[in-house]
Amino acid sequence: MITDPGWCRCEAVLAEWLGRAFAAAFGAEAAGLTIRVQPTVDAQFGDFQCNDAMPLAKRIKQSPRVIAEAVIRALPFPDCIEKADVAGPGFINLTVHPAWLAGEVTTLLAAPRCGLPSVGTGQTIILDYSSPNVAKPMHIGHIRSTVIGNALDRMFRALGYTVIADNHLGDWGTQFGILIMGYRTFLDPVRLEQSPIEELERVYVASYNRTKEDPAWIDTCRAELVKLQQGDAANLEIWKRFISLSMSEFERIYARLGVSFDLCRGESYYNDRLAETVALLHTRGLSCESEGAVVVRLEDEGMPVCIVRKSDGGFNYATTDIATVRSRVEEFAPSRIIYVTDERQQLHFRQFFAVCRKLGVTTDLEHVWFGLMRLPEGTFSTRQGNVIRLDALLDEAERRARAIIDASESAMSEAEKRELAAVIGIGAVKYADLSHDPQNMIVFTWEKALALEGNSGPYLQYAYARICSLLDKYADQVPGREPRANALILGDAIEKALALQLMQFPSAVVRAANACKPSILADYLFALSQTYSSFYQRSPVLKAEAAVRDSRVCLCARVADVLREGLGLLGIGTPRRI
Ligand code: ARG
Repeated sequence: MITDPGWCRCEAVLAEWLGRAFAAAFGAEAAGLTIRVQPTVDAQFGDFQCNDAMPLAKRIKQSPRVIAEAVIRALPFPDCIEKADVAGPGFINLTVHPAWLAGEVTTLLAAPRCGLPSVGTGQTIILDYSSPNVAKPMHIGHIRSTVIGNALDRMFRALGYTVIADNHLGDWGTQFGILIMGYRTFLDPVRLEQSPIEELERVYVASYNRTKEDPAWIDTCRAELVKLQQGDAANLEIWKRFISLSMSEFERIYARLGVSFDLCRGESYYNDRLAETVALLHTRGLSCESEGAVVVRLEDEGMPVCIVRKSDGGFNYATTDIATVRSRVEEFAPSRIIYVTDERQQLHFRQFFAVCRKLGVTTDLEHVWFGLMRLPEGTFSTRQGNVIRLDALLDEAERRARAIIDASESAMSEAEKRELAAVIGIGAVKYADLSHDPQNMIVFTWEKALALEGNSGPYLQYAYARICSLLDKYADQVPGREPRANALILGDAIEKALALQLMQFPSAVVRAANACKPSILADYLFALSQTYSSFYQRSPVLKAEAAVRDSRVCLCARVADVLREGLGLLGIGTPRRI
């Protein structure tokens, strides 16, 4: 008998008992069967269910209902079980004692981080995310990569993994020859001062356009690139300038988003390893020549060749990524490397992952891709093309959040309002992104992102703030009493439902992290706040008689703790007052 403990303590305890009950009723016949317990979909079927009578029925050719009946009769109920019955074709439905559940919730949520298990201890994950390109503004793809990557970063760390967040800047490559020439020829120092990335982009475009009219210009750009790659001092100087100007703009955005990295190793960091990587592919007999280029054939995996050296001798994006994996594996021995980018790079990742496997890399390489975000009127774009400036988007979010705050009657100082507008506005943008399965396309609307009702960041922040205000009132009513120290009595069905849902917090985080889908956690938090709101509508808290009031306040405080912790894992702030 194998019992799958899952990530909910209640399920683990029940699975353990059921495991013994199956063994008591069926002995060797049940050997090797995996026993799993999960929450029921509907409280009318009890609190938890187990479906494992079905596989045993197949194995021993008996009716699953008869098996289920025999299992629940095999042993006396432990203290935690109030009721067990068999439903449908042979589901075992279990109802737990409220008093036992109250104890479990209390223990779970008294633990640090609301009881998240340290499942990742001893394992290193490298998270490659954000990774914008130098001298270009971050586009919507980088925003999603930054927001999703950072949520994964926070979740994995909270689960005890050693996370190395690496911002793999696009800071090397053919565009720099064009950019250096553009910088030398077309630069407007005043504009550069005012908005560096825009100006660098402008000079890049000017220089790029000239390549189309003037063949000699292309040659000069190529020559400048070669000089840069060979370490020419003057070109390196300009290149460093591009990086520092870009980084300071990126840093401003990261600061607004509350994002930080452990490493910021751009593509250039691996430059010295490119030739060696191509040579290794050659000595291992993995590469061949094709029309002057060096390629790795991937027909066996149903993919086009992966070019690792171009016919002009230059290395490309894939070469850098292969070299980067080798370097990361040697230096950090990670168990996983996770890359977060938009869907357009899927083939690139599948190709270079395949090459890495041919080289014997055993680290799990995962590409977490996401669809693009769109406005109802079409793509998220400015006049010219497919970029929307992230800082403009965040400004707009803050402006709109500020309008909502101004419209409410709150006696806040100007500084408080400004800070609050940032937390709500940025939280709204992040949540609009994170609450969708990354692989779905998102249609972004301000109305939905900032809605105070419905599945939005502000809705959850507001739910949290309302609980805080309730706790403040309680503190006035019963001074000096810590709500969480009150005895928790789960007196009615909705209180029990809330407690059962609180028990699912660790499981929501583990599932979200394992699947690299922050949306699983967002869904959980939204469902929790909905249950909370029906509880709050139905059950008076501060006006209830003392023991009930104290218990309900304790439950409210626990809901607030989980909302704060969970939103924190999504990188979303929780102001106490809205
Ligand atoms: N700089 C790339 C881009 O903007 C993303 C890099 C993703 N990371 C990687 N190791 N390839 O598209």
